[in-house]
Amino acid sequence: MQEAVQDYINDKEIIEKILKLKEELGEKLLILTHHYQRKEIVELGDCRGDSFGLSQKAASDKDARFIVFCGVHFMAESAEILSQPHQIVQIPAFEAGCPMADMADIYIVERAWKEITSIVREEVIMPIVYMNSDAHIKAFCGRYGGAVCTSSNAQAAFSWGFDQREKIFFFPDQHLGRNTGNQMGILPEEMIVWNSGESFGGNTSEKIKKAKLILWDGYCHVHTRFRAEHVLKMRKKFPEAGIVVHPECTQEVIKLADAMGSTSFIVKYVEDAPPNATIIIGTEINLINRLAMENPHKNILELHYSLCPNMFKINLGNLLLSLESIGQLNVVKVPENIKSESKTALDNMLALNTYATS
Ligand code: 13P
Ligand code: SF4
Repeated sequence: MQEAVQDYINDKEIIEKILKLKEELGEKLLILTHHYQRKEIVELGDCRGDSFGLSQKAASDKDARFIVFCGVHFMAESAEILSQPHQIVQIPAFEAGCPMADMADIYIVERAWKEITSIVREEVIMPIVYMNSDAHIKAFCGRYGGAVCTSSNAQAAFSWGFDQREKIFFFPDQHLGRNTGNQMGILPEEMIVWNSGESFGGNTSEKIKKAKLILWDGYCHVHTRFRAEHVLKMRKKFPEAGIVVHPECTQEVIKLADAMGSTSFIVKYVEDAPPNATIIIGTEINLINRLAMENPHKNILELHYSLCPNMFKINLGNLLLSLESIGQLNVVKVPENIKSESKTALDNMLALNTYATS
């Protein structure tokens, strides 16, 4: 007991140790932090962003020897795929996964692809995979000519897909897929849900032939916690407020909100609002709290409390451990064959910016 007390160090001491190690490692170290990370983690990072911004950073940085990724596993994995061979990617908490990403298992996705392509020709269907997926799923997508997308470029990815093929097979997040389809004017009857537990996704061959958009049945438990009644309640209480929500929310919530957009869209929505504006946000609570703190002259409120427990697994203690064991602890490594095919799908996404504006 005595020893335990002696060993105990408080947050301030951990922060000091982290800062000292950061100084020692200098340019050799790059700490990337997702917007949903705890405040103290974001403050210790070198670069904060959404999943798209951080993957761009991982792809463009050639100098750092060590990239410590403070986010969930699929994000660190994407950074590893996009990084240079001399770079080592680490995640402070290996167990920080994403339940939605786990809803698309490669064997089940491959079985679904076989079923779909037994009804429609492979050449007419484009796989588009959400960044929130593991490397095997991204590799599958690359193998069949598809692209990765995030919530910040889903529409550009869908346009890119539809320019080449008649149909899109999108996974794992049905809500991002449906909300993007709605934005693009795809009719509800042209979108079908692929129930991953049933053969042919629970669809008739007629339905599969008619569908423009096939949506995997995955969802984010953090964003589907927001309900229409939360929007109605907050609207009544703050009629002058702007309500902005993430596209992983259900279409019922999105229809009632004023704006929908990715994490970086939400950040910009707050930045662009005039002083004293009231903004109600439907996304992960750590981002909302930080936006409130960084915008003291704006009234930033949560639509409802919702925390991502996986993002929360990264803390000062395991960040310090990562830095103390730099290059060794919780190293993220994607097998070479999976890496090259998943990189194709990620590169297709990174090229979308050019595509969307050209
Ligand atoms: P972003 O792509 O907006 O960073 O979101 C990632 C995510 O996991 C949202 O739940
Ligand atoms: Fe996954 Fe949802 Fe957490 Fe994002 S918020 S990492 S989609 S569980």
